[in-house]
Amino acid sequence: MSTTPTTVGLEPAAPAVELDDVTVRLPRAGGDLQILHGVSFKVPAGSVVALAGESGSGKSTAALSLMRLLPWGARVGGRIMAGDRDVAAMGKEELRRFRASEARIILQDPWSSLHPMKSVGAQMVESARSADPSLSKEQARSLAVEMMAKVRIPDPESRLKAYPHEMSGGQLQRVLIAMALVAKPKLLLCDEPTTALDVSTQAQILDLLRELNREMGLTIVIATHDLDVIAGLADRLVVMYAGRVVEEGPTKQVMANPQHPYTWALLQTAPKHNTGQRMRTIEGRPPALDALPSGCSFAARCQFTTDECHGTRPELVLVDESAVHRTACLRVQAAAGGKHRAPVTTTPVETVSEEA
Ligand SMILES: Nc1ncnc2c1ncn2[C@@H]1O[C@H](COP(=O)(O)OP(=O)(O)OP(=O)(O)O)[C@@H](O)[C@H]1O
Ligand SMILES: [Mg+2]
Repeated sequence: MSTTPTTVGLEPAAPAVELDDVTVRLPRAGGDLQILHGVSFKVPAGSVVALAGESGSGKSTAALSLMRLLPWGARVGGRIMAGDRDVAAMGKEELRRFRASEARIILQDPWSSLHPMKSVGAQMVESARSADPSLSKEQARSLAVEMMAKVRIPDPESRLKAYPHEMSGGQLQRVLIAMALVAKPKLLLCDEPTTALDVSTQAQILDLLRELNREMGLTIVIATHDLDVIAGLADRLVVMYAGRVVEEGPTKQVMANPQHPYTWALLQTAPKHNTGQRMRTIEGRPPALDALPSGCSFAARCQFTTDECHGTRPELVLVDESAVHRTACLRVQAAAGGKHRAPVTTTPVETVSEEA
C-alpha cells in the first residue's frame, strides 16, 4: 500500500453524487438525536458504491439522504451533491422531479413498495409518466414491456396485467427494478435489496444489478450488511460505524488490506461463502447514539486501543491517495508516522427536511 503523496487518480471520475460533511439530527424531546456525523463520500458516475456496517451504523440514513428521504423533521447539515446541484437545498418541485426521474430507490421489502390494488402495468405506466410527462400511455406501456424484458420477466405483456400478490418476492423485486428503469434514472439506491429473498433469488438480483451497471452505466449505491453482496458487486466500499465513515476505498483493496480495526473485525465475522457457517458477531455493542464517547467510537471494542484512542476522535485521512483509500484510526496514523493527509473540511449548512 502506498503512502507516498501523489495526485494521480485522486479525482477518479466526476462524482454522480456526493455526501460532503453530512450530519443528520432527529428532533427528540430533551434534545436532538444525531444519527450521522460529518459523513463524506463520493460516488463516481457509473460505479457501484456499497455502504457496510452493523445494524444501526447509519447505512440506510446515509443512502436515503442522497434522495433526501429522511424521517420527518430531520435536520440535515452539509451538502448532498447530485452533479452540481445540492439535494439538501432543492425546493419541493425540483426534489419531486429529481426523485421521479434521476434517482430511484429499491427497498428491502418489495411488497411494501407497490400498491396492492393496482396492476403492475398501471404502476409502471405511472412511474414512466411521472418521470417524463410527455409520454403517452401507449409509449409508457411499451417502455414498461421493454424494461420488464430487460429484467428478465418472462412474457412481460401478460405479466403487466398481474397484481403484486400474484407474483413471488424475487419477481416483485425485478418489477421494482423495471419500474425504476422506465424512469431512465442515472442513480439507483438499493437498501438491503436482497435481504428478504431466498439465496438463489438473491444471486439473480445481484447479477441483474451488475448487468445494469455494466451495460447501462447505471450508478448504484447499495446499503447492505452482506459482505458477499459487496465483494461481488461494489467497486468501492464505505464502512460506517456509529454514524461515521471509518474506512472507505476500493472494495478489493479494503477487503484484502483493511486499515481500520472495525473493518477487519467485520470481515472476520462474515460467513465463508456457501459453507452455511453461522455468522459470528463482533464482541460488544456499538455505543448508544445519545452517549457517544469523546474519542474513537470503536475504542471500547477494539483490541488495539491506547489511551489516546479514548480521548481523541480520529479524523478520516487518506492512507492511499491514488486509490482514495481513507481510514479514521489513530493507530494507523501513528504507524505511518503522521504522513497521512487530513481531508479539507467544509463549513456545514443546515436545512430541515419536510419529508416523512
Ligand atoms: N426515525 C428514527 N427515529 C429515531 N431513530 C432513528 C430513526 N431512523 C433511524 N434512527 C436511528 O439511527 C441509527 C441509524 O439507523 P439506520 O437505519 O441508518 O442504520 P442501518 O445501518 O441502516 O441499520 P440496519 O442494518 O439495521 O438497517 C439507528 O440507531 C437508528 O435507530
Ligand atoms: Mg438499514
